[in-house]
Amino acid sequence: MVADQVIEAAGCWVVPGLIDVHVHLREPGFEHKETIATGTRSAALGGFTTICCMPNTSPVIDNEILVEYIKLKAEREGVVHVLPVGAITKGQKGEELANIGKMAQAGACAISEDGKTVMNAGLLKKAMKYAAMFHIPMLSHCEDPTLAGSGAMHGGAYSELLGIKGIPADAEEVIVARDLLLARGTGVKLHLCHISTKGSVQLLREAKARGEQVTAEVCPHHFTLTDAAVEGYDANTKMNPPLRSAEDVKSIKRALADGTIEIIATDHAPHHEDDKNCEYENAAFGIVGLETALALGITQLVQEGYLTPMQLIAKMTLHPAKLLGIDKGTLEVGRAADMTIIDPAATYRVNMQEFASKSRNTPFHGMNLQGKIRYTLVDGKIIVEEGKLVEE
Ligand code: DOR
Ligand code: ZN
Ligand code: ZN
Repeated sequence: MVADQVIEAAGCWVVPGLIDVHVHLREPGFEHKETIATGTRSAALGGFTTICCMPNTSPVIDNEILVEYIKLKAEREGVVHVLPVGAITKGQKGEELANIGKMAQAGACAISEDGKTVMNAGLLKKAMKYAAMFHIPMLSHCEDPTLAGSGAMHGGAYSELLGIKGIPADAEEVIVARDLLLARGTGVKLHLCHISTKGSVQLLREAKARGEQVTAEVCPHHFTLTDAAVEGYDANTKMNPPLRSAEDVKSIKRALADGTIEIIATDHAPHHEDDKNCEYENAAFGIVGLETALALGITQLVQEGYLTPMQLIAKMTLHPAKLLGIDKGTLEVGRAADMTIIDPAATYRVNMQEFASKSRNTPFHGMNLQGKIRYTLVDGKIIVEEGKLVEE
């Protein structure tokens, strides 16, 4: 194919299309929060060309028919590549394994119980073996509900101060430790979702030093904000795991810098205004993230000297592609033309009214950030041009 268009990109980064392994598209069942149509447009505006969608929908994506359904719907209504993630147990009830083999054959890119933790260790170990057998990773949401209880924010000085029940760090760490232990010898590619504490980083570091097959992701909000942001009771600072202490954030940034944490993922979790515009305790967990992720990475990590531009981009392209075992995340000749063009010097103020996402639940509204998506190309087709969606 010959080029038929020239894009002026002086001073810009021309990179592989960004890949997000952790997105909630809410379809089917919660279309008032997000749909495949709106979520993929949000992704494209954020520079993403491939996203994995989590199965905590209604019904739960726990069989091959639903995996096929998401794929078909995404082909028809989406503007970026969508890879469905299958649930680990039927209905995410934690009782009976979903048919992992059939889901993998239908195109599930991974399995995950995200939003919940499979508390039955025997069942989870079996699922790890099946995931290994079918060559798909397990994306692990690490949270012991008996320790998290009805907490709504990080358990620490701020939860005391604000009078909000806390979610202690060990609610996360005990499951990180358990899953690392269970994964040994199963052959599974274990991936820890949204790790947020110093203790989780330590456990991950030790497992990697032992040579275990494990990766982890961190979300932009967890390297940008601390639990101090909850002061003011804005429910857009509520997510799971919660914003942690300054010390936790420091150790997360260090682990990004030294390569212990290889992946940045958004945990894009759209919620309707009604789910957020209420008392902190009653609000839903989760924030949107696709349209602010790259700029937060540039502003918080590159500008602050934690990562080089190449390191940041690798954590949003090559490394997620490796985890998923997909032929993406590079600009090698012959690969699909999924590409993103970024102006790393452009500054702007986040305006949630401009989001393509159906939801507006962000704590970053009004924040000044650096780094703008100029173009997003999916399979050679321009989806975003000069920061705007090109409507077909
Ligand atoms: O904050 C979160 N929101 N964490 C999760 O694990 C689930 C997600 C959601 O589905 O809203
Ligand atoms: Zn989760
Ligand atoms: Zn999630």
